[in-house]
Amino acid sequence: MAERIAEEKINQIRQAVDIVEVISDYVQLKKQGRNYFGLCPFHGENTPSFSVSPDKQIFHCFGCGAGGNVFSFLIELEGISFQEAAVKLAAKANIELDLDMSTGPKEKKVPEDIQAMLQAHELLRKFYHHLLVNTNEGQPALEYLMDRGFTRESIDKFQIGYSLNSWDYVFKFLSKREFSPEWMEKAGLIIKREKDGTYFDRFRNRIMFPIFDQNGKTIAFSGRTLGAEQPKYLNSPETPIFNKSKILYNYHLAKPNIKKLQNAVLFEGFADVIAADRAGIENGIATMGTALTEEHIAILKRTAESITICYDSDHAGIEAAFRAGSLLTESGMTVKVAVMPDGMDPDEYIKSLGSERFRKEVIGASLTWMAFKFLYFRRGKNLQNEGDRLAYIEEIIREISKLSKAVERDHYLRQLAGEFSLSLDALREQQKQIYFAEKRKEKGKKTSSSPALILQTNELKPRYYTAERRLIAHMLKNRDTVYRVQELLQGETFNEDEHQAILTYLLSFYEDHSEADSSAFLTYIQDDHLRRIVANIEMMPINDELSSQELNDYIKQVLNYQKLLRIKEKEVELKEAERQQDYKQAALIGNEINQLRKSL
Ligand code: GTP
Ligand code: MN
Repeated sequence: MAERIAEEKINQIRQAVDIVEVISDYVQLKKQGRNYFGLCPFHGENTPSFSVSPDKQIFHCFGCGAGGNVFSFLIELEGISFQEAAVKLAAKANIELDLDMSTGPKEKKVPEDIQAMLQAHELLRKFYHHLLVNTNEGQPALEYLMDRGFTRESIDKFQIGYSLNSWDYVFKFLSKREFSPEWMEKAGLIIKREKDGTYFDRFRNRIMFPIFDQNGKTIAFSGRTLGAEQPKYLNSPETPIFNKSKILYNYHLAKPNIKKLQNAVLFEGFADVIAADRAGIENGIATMGTALTEEHIAILKRTAESITICYDSDHAGIEAAFRAGSLLTESGMTVKVAVMPDGMDPDEYIKSLGSERFRKEVIGASLTWMAFKFLYFRRGKNLQNEGDRLAYIEEIIREISKLSKAVERDHYLRQLAGEFSLSLDALREQQKQIYFAEKRKEKGKKTSSSPALILQTNELKPRYYTAERRLIAHMLKNRDTVYRVQELLQGETFNEDEHQAILTYLLSFYEDHSEADSSAFLTYIQDDHLRRIVANIEMMPINDELSSQELNDYIKQVLNYQKLLRIKEKEVELKEAERQQDYKQAALIGNEINQLRKSL
């Protein structure tokens, strides 16, 4: 069993950290009034419905209902235990927590073999690097790199190395250090021969690029040939520690710069990232030679507002830039596209035209996403030809219709009108038609409800529902209110079971807490579902003080609903009595109904 952390400690940690600061590591937050808003990290969305309250130290998403305090945020987002979240937060707040995590249940789950895999990668990274920079065997590789414009500085910074031209050097190297061959095979460092079960090294005579995870641990390698052999790049296979679709090359080094600039430059290849870094672009990243995935985008969204795509300017590169850019804009990020002269890649550009021109004329002159699409749709068309020209104009108007800002639509319509000497009014007319046609099409297939709709349905709830929520909101803020409410309810309960459950939690919470504390209460509640409801209620705007008038109105709405239910029941009974022609009974019931109505 994991050691329990004393409640006092937990309180101390909670008071020392700021939820806004913690969540800012994962979500772009913007202040709006008292609260902060951003795109929810728990579900995909384009308009921010995720809010964080610095006063209450809690978060809540109006879109998906996620909510809680700083502990539940980390637990849900990182999939870690309460203990682990406490350890993380304590470290952040510089609070000592003598908790031996190695005896904890989770740490046992980071098995020895994973540790061994990481250790082996660490060892090999150093060894490969040493071979490249210090040995005769590595000399040709080092010369190749220097020839390509790599500097000693970037070779060190990116820990580039060289793997020997040997079938079993790594196998022996690791075996000597008592790493089990089965696990080194699972880690992708050596390969088993089918015929006799012996092993050989995966990487031989290649330039070695270590792949780091977000924390700077080496988790894989990519090896490039020195010549023209195939494959040009050989990657580690997918392993328990390496998942290509989640890894961005250079993310661990670039992250602070990406955050500072609120922008990441996305390249196609490692060589480009490294050359750009040399040219002073230190927020560059690349995928592992694969397409951009939703997981990559989720990582980027936590760190930056915009992405500059800087792919090769050949056919494949432009197509890939269009796909990546579409995904990124769909996810709500701002996209720019840096283009180079035909067929060049960033690495070649920097080598032949220099760092300054790269910064100014490529990155600095990036196109907006819309301007890139102007170019993109033009490819393969002959605009002298009328058919091609009309097809192009329609494609562009379609794209313009997707823009939400009227000024932007106007800007691009003018550009289009100017370029083809068309009437601006006619273009505007066309654009409106396309817009409404698309809208009609969409209406038919709309399925998911937007955050705005969820808010509306809350408002459509019966009056008691809102009353109960308002009462809970006040009780969360003020201990005394709980006792006032209890007294006024006169033994009746809330109509909504969940609200009643929260009230019960509140009563026991205040037994050993003399002050209201939203965040502490969220830790206190054991039930995830209730916790989300509480977080939602916390975000309701309410008056600072609860007057007796307001309090009595709410209580009345709660109690009236029960009376209304009873009246409904009685009315059914009354009908039944009348049907059976039991007029005495009917009169009695009628009387009761009148009494109930009067008391409303
Ligand atoms: P250099 O030729 O060294 O300049 O590399 P590059 O980055 O220009 O390579 P390229 O544009 O051809 O490819 C971009 C990225 O795709 C590389 O960084 C690799 O991640 C990946 N890639 C290229 N070739 C191969 C290959 O043969 N196998 C695999 N697995 N990946 C490759
Ligand atoms: Mn290249």
